Amino acid sequence: MERERARRQRRTRAIVLAVATLLVAAVVATGTLFATGVWSLGGDRMAAASVSSTGSPTGSPSPSVSATPTPSASVPGIPAPSFTPEPPPPPSFDKAALSIDDPTSPWVVVNKLRPIADGADYGPPDLVDLPADMPNPNGYQLRADAAAALEEMFHAALAEIGVQLVAQSGYRSYSVQVRAYDYYVNSLGVAGADLTSARPGYSEHQTGMAMDILDTVSGCSTDGRCFADTAAGQWLAANAYRFGYVLRYPDGGTPITGYEFEPWHYRWIGVPAATEMHDTGVTTLEEFFGLPAAPDYAG
Ligand code: DAL
Ligand code: ZN
Repeated sequence: MERERARRQRRTRAIVLAVATLLVAAVVATGTLFATGVWSLGGDRMAAASVSSTGSPTGSPSPSVSATPTPSASVPGIPAPSFTPEPPPPPSFDKAALSIDDPTSPWVVVNKLRPIADGADYGPPDLVDLPADMPNPNGYQLRADAAAALEEMFHAALAEIGVQLVAQSGYRSYSVQVRAYDYYVNSLGVAGADLTSARPGYSEHQTGMAMDILDTVSGCSTDGRCFADTAAGQWLAANAYRFGYVLRYPDGGTPITGYEFEPWHYRWIGVPAATEMHDTGVTTLEEFFGLPAAPDYAG
């Protein structure tokens, strides 16, 4: 009897020991799975593991997966989704940085609706004769910055296409513009004159920042479309912005500028604004500065 009880006690202890060993093993294994992230309470890491580097789920869509990946701490054994932050937008060009009303400003916009303030008496500051190395048969003048830029442009045209540009106009006083406009009225009538010549007080030539440009080889004049098809005319149209000049009266621009295409007439506005116009494909100052079209004089 005694022996039988002792045998049952030994068997019971053996069973208890075996069950206890199994429990301990199970606890250790479960802890390892949690620690390596293979298991988690919500299963999010398993879901994260199925998200591609672009943020698109590779399997069926999961409501817990966001379309835009966000940086997350890396998980041992699972590659973190790659994440490229968006570059900041480029600083936008400030079109209000300079005046478009002040006739001394490089950005002044003069057209049939925007006469030069106090035009009958206005004369620009810092007018200079063009540098001696530039053909300037009539002794025209420009403001100093516009003249320096023109000199650079003439040198570049000679170096790049082997053509010598020639200054054909430049600063025109109010009284000179009176004579120019009258000449066109006499030959073309008022309507014809208004398509090609500004009335006195309305010409950007009076600002000292506009130049008519031809070349020594084409034989073109400041009339018609001839100069547009020359090597010089095409080089100027494509490159003048590098020197701060813009073609002021472009082909097709008459409803906005009020003037026929003038492939010879360039206006200096400075390199930053000319480059911005070039880069954004805007071809008139009216559109660039958000001004009304100026096909006709008011009243
Ligand atoms: N030819 C331009 C429009 C002017 O006379 O100013
Ligand atoms: Zn002109």
